[in-house]
Amino acid sequence: MVDRNGWDGEVPVSDASPRRPPESFVAQANVADEAVHEKFADEWPACWERAAALLDWDEPYDTVLEDDDAPFYRWFTGGRLNAAYNCLDRHVEGGRKNHAAIRWEGKRGESTTYTYRELYVEVNELAASLRELGVEADDVVTIYLPMIPELPTAMLACARIGAPHSVVFAGLSADALATRMDAADSEYLVTCDGYYRRGDAFNQKGKADNALLELDQDVTTVVVDRLGEELPHVLGASEYDYHDLLDAHRGETVDPVSRAAEDMLFLMYTSGTTGRPKGVVHATGGYLSYAAWTSHAVLDVKPEDTYWCAADIGWITGHSYIVYGPLALGTTTLLYEGTPDYPDRNRLWEIIERNAVDVFYTAPTAIRAFMKWGEEYPDRHDLSSLRLLGTVGEPINPRAWEWYHEHVGGGECPIVDTWWQTETGGIAISTLPGVDDMKPGAAGPALPGVDARVVDGAGEAVDPEEAGYLALARPWPGMLRTLYEGDDRFVDEYWRRLSDPDADEWRYFTGDAARVDEDGYVTVLGRVDDVINVSGHRLSTMEVESAIVEVEGVAEAAVVGATGGSDGTDTGIFAYVSTERDADAAAIREAIHEAIEDAIGPIARPEEVVFTPELPKTRSGKIMRRLLADVTNGEELGDTSALRNPEIVGELQAAIREE
Ligand code: WTA
Repeated sequence: MVDRNGWDGEVPVSDASPRRPPESFVAQANVADEAVHEKFADEWPACWERAAALLDWDEPYDTVLEDDDAPFYRWFTGGRLNAAYNCLDRHVEGGRKNHAAIRWEGKRGESTTYTYRELYVEVNELAASLRELGVEADDVVTIYLPMIPELPTAMLACARIGAPHSVVFAGLSADALATRMDAADSEYLVTCDGYYRRGDAFNQKGKADNALLELDQDVTTVVVDRLGEELPHVLGASEYDYHDLLDAHRGETVDPVSRAAEDMLFLMYTSGTTGRPKGVVHATGGYLSYAAWTSHAVLDVKPEDTYWCAADIGWITGHSYIVYGPLALGTTTLLYEGTPDYPDRNRLWEIIERNAVDVFYTAPTAIRAFMKWGEEYPDRHDLSSLRLLGTVGEPINPRAWEWYHEHVGGGECPIVDTWWQTETGGIAISTLPGVDDMKPGAAGPALPGVDARVVDGAGEAVDPEEAGYLALARPWPGMLRTLYEGDDRFVDEYWRRLSDPDADEWRYFTGDAARVDEDGYVTVLGRVDDVINVSGHRLSTMEVESAIVEVEGVAEAAVVGATGGSDGTDTGIFAYVSTERDADAAAIREAIHEAIEDAIGPIARPEEVVFTPELPKTRSGKIMRRLLADVTNGEELGDTSALRNPEIVGELQAAIREE
């Protein structure tokens, strides 16, 4: 298999035996019907009515799936609904107005609760404000906020008036914000003065201002005052204070705009194989049904739970599993502004204990950090409220799985290892905790109704245990509908590679390599395209390389993902750079770090910058990133016969050993 930077060769094997979820869990699980996989297969696509049935529709849909224009699939057509209505009004009307919707835990130890009614009131006031500022249905509103309650409020206010939101992770740079606003032609921005990063006040508005300078369009900005006196700011023309707007619209309500099922709910930019980020388009009916269904069936969320997904809403995980899924189901979703080790390493466990959290969902990279810190931190707290644990974002190695199971779950909570992507909208591969056995190291079978296959380059299934491309051979309601940049790019990126259009066989290309065992359990092996997954953040090699080659003195650059741990864990970025003659390496290294922070943000900071006189290239002049990945990770080198400059390999290996 061709693969530029990720998996290539040896496949890790999990020898752990299957684990049965405890009977006590199964007895109370939302989905415990052993026949659920079979039923979905028999009733497909009508099986997906179960997902749609979790929502309230203004108009019922006539057709579950329209597939006559594949791969442009349409779900629940004819139906109309509003996402904010489903996440708020119906719970308020249904007698749950005083139930907690959001519990917010701030960075400085403060905490606040929003009941469903309180959230409903604020969302309405903000929706009225946005209307007054000129936002209409289908206008893209960019939201650039940290993990404060105003972030989900702004998303729901947009959803209420039918304006798609595009949330940009608050840690991304001004340039990255500008690129996304430009690509989406977005004329509205909701941001804040600043926020606390660890103990310090950090200026967010300054970044937003710089981004707006790069844009051609006029932008109307709403600013949340998070820091008050600590970071005084002055509002200019076209800038409005969030709380002043709410005051001006006190008590106003806005009728939820009835959206067609296929109308866009939001846009989410993610890294693709080129330098330009992709605007993934999610549709209202299918996405919300899918987020609600997977929250119900996989995360076992119940209305009376306190549920905590410790991701950031700036990424898809937070959209689906902090905001839309849990709120659609009427549960209490916990929103945490801080980091796991501030003010100290007890922080997460203290929050779980104090809030009696029922379900906890986080990333393997976080779990591995907890392992390093030691079990004394979780062991010091009463975590017995926990019923289920989840992981997302990268493969979880069996050792981390066992640790999580033992020290966080007290040996009693099932773990769901959930595979999915920005594009899938929600979980696509995972065990159902009330049905399936768990195999540490393997994500699990495809969800009922999802058809995950491991295929070769021609789209044909490979044998069990053999590695190949992970493909989804049937559409699913949460799938992206297109890319904002256009339908052609959508087809090129996801459908061309493994499909056979003449036979009307469409297979969605995930960009991941995987293998599947005899029981249909999928082990994900990593990306096969030019996307690097660094601690759960997707970055494109091209995006990072473009930033590096902008630095004066740099001739060429190639970046690859480094897997640090012995069990293929904890990824970082290694940048290989050749410089012009007489360049000052130390100054260039510093400039490279700065350039990457400016172009993308601190998350893309390379772990190492390795200088080399030349990059390894094929005879046709292509940089061999696969070889660089092997060198970085101390792997046996694959085929190097195509190399034009084989002598460089030894030098690189020596350089890496020194690092
Ligand atoms: C990876 C995050 C292994 C995968 C929800 C995928 C995983 C990419 C898992 C999507 C998992 C996600 N096991 N790998 N359980 N979950 N991935 O779009 O490479 O930020 O393609 O969505 O993360 O990242 P994205």
